[in-house]
Amino acid sequence: MASALLILLWAMVILRADSLPDKKSLLLPPTNFTINVIGLAQVLLHWEPNPDQQPENVELGYHVRINAPQEEDYETRNTESKLVTVLHQGFSASVQTIPWDGHSLLASNWVSAELKAPPGSPETSIVNLTCTTMTTLNNSNPLRPYQVSLYCTWLVGKDAPEDTQYFLYYRYDSSTEECREYKKDTLKRNIACWFPRTFIRSRGSDLLAVHANGSSQRATIKPFDQLFALHAIDRINPPVNVTAEIEGTCLSIQWEKPISAFPIHCFEYEVKIYNARKNYFQTEKMTTNTFISITDISKYSIQVRAAVSSVCRQTGLWSEWSQTVYVGNEDQKPSMEWFLIVLVATICFILLIFTLICKIKLFPVKQKLKS
Ligand SMILES: *[C@@H]1O[C@H](CO)[C@@H](O)[C@H](O)[C@H]1NC(C)=O
Ligand SMILES: *[C@@H]1O[C@H](CO)[C@@H](O)[C@H](O)[C@H]1NC(C)=O
Ligand SMILES: *[C@@H]1O[C@H](CO)[C@@H](O)[C@H](O)[C@H]1NC(C)=O
Repeated sequence: MASALLILLWAMVILRADSLPDKKSLLLPPTNFTINVIGLAQVLLHWEPNPDQQPENVELGYHVRINAPQEEDYETRNTESKLVTVLHQGFSASVQTIPWDGHSLLASNWVSAELKAPPGSPETSIVNLTCTTMTTLNNSNPLRPYQVSLYCTWLVGKDAPEDTQYFLYYRYDSSTEECREYKKDTLKRNIACWFPRTFIRSRGSDLLAVHANGSSQRATIKPFDQLFALHAIDRINPPVNVTAEIEGTCLSIQWEKPISAFPIHCFEYEVKIYNARKNYFQTEKMTTNTFISITDISKYSIQVRAAVSSVCRQTGLWSEWSQTVYVGNEDQKPSMEWFLIVLVATICFILLIFTLICKIKLFPVKQKLKS
């Protein structure tokens, strides 16, 4: 019994010794780690495997840690990595060598690099940046029938001197453009920008990067970056050709999909029907392009709006309501019907009175005859 226990203890000691690292198995950190800005709100991290790494036959990978502006962790076998991130608060990252094939080697020490935040007080940057995109028809190019416009507005930073001028840029994928159509405040500072056409693909899933910097004689204007998800800022057009008709007691409403690069099955709709006689709003959610309902006699006003459904993209904003369509009639028809009903009722009533009078006049005669 005692010997069995001893053997077990001995086995455990051996096992522990096995899993303990020896000096050699500590991996060496990568070398020449650099961070380069390769585009608007876009960086490239690059490093080299350590040339002194032994043994050479081990498969290596890297553990990348983004420290700022937002913590993020991932592992890769590549020696470079492209990232989309805001850069006005600076950027810093670390990387270490790790074993890739499950070796019991220990990860290396970290190597770090950083991009300094651009100079200037944060209060000189633009604030409350909002952007929206819209799709328009592009008649001049049948290969790209839709084009996307971009509109951004912002407020002047509270410490920005009066002579500050702001400049706005956007990047989508690998295309960058500077704004050419600004709207200005009373001090002639740019506070909004309109790009009538952009390189944005309305069905794309890349982030839209917007960068605003500025200049002033009296202060350094700190630049500002913001990333936008397209589904969250895309202003869908309202449905078109909305028509409505009433046949008998059946109200039918039809419309066509909005001007959009998304195909017909990508839309959901909301139909808003106002019954003027009952002063009552009815709202229906639909995925088809027709709505049919049983109605009573009234005047109706109808509007439809659209959104790209989750079938095709993350749910976003509703479009504006379509122009109001009116159908039905409150006055004429019902008054004609009422007139007929009242007329018939009056005739019946007169006939009834008439027969009653006749009977009363006849009965006394009969009674007199009997007596
Ligand atoms: C690292 O950079 C230095 C100089 O920039 C260069 O001489 C060296 O070869 C590089 N090391 C590796 C492993 O690429
Ligand atoms: C700007 O944004 C801040 C919060 O980020 C908000 O409190 C403020 O009301 C906004 N100002 C305007 C004019 O929209
Ligand atoms: C603003 O940013 C753009 C794009 O990065 C750059 O070309 C331009 O020189 C910058 N302007 C100022 C005033 O910093």
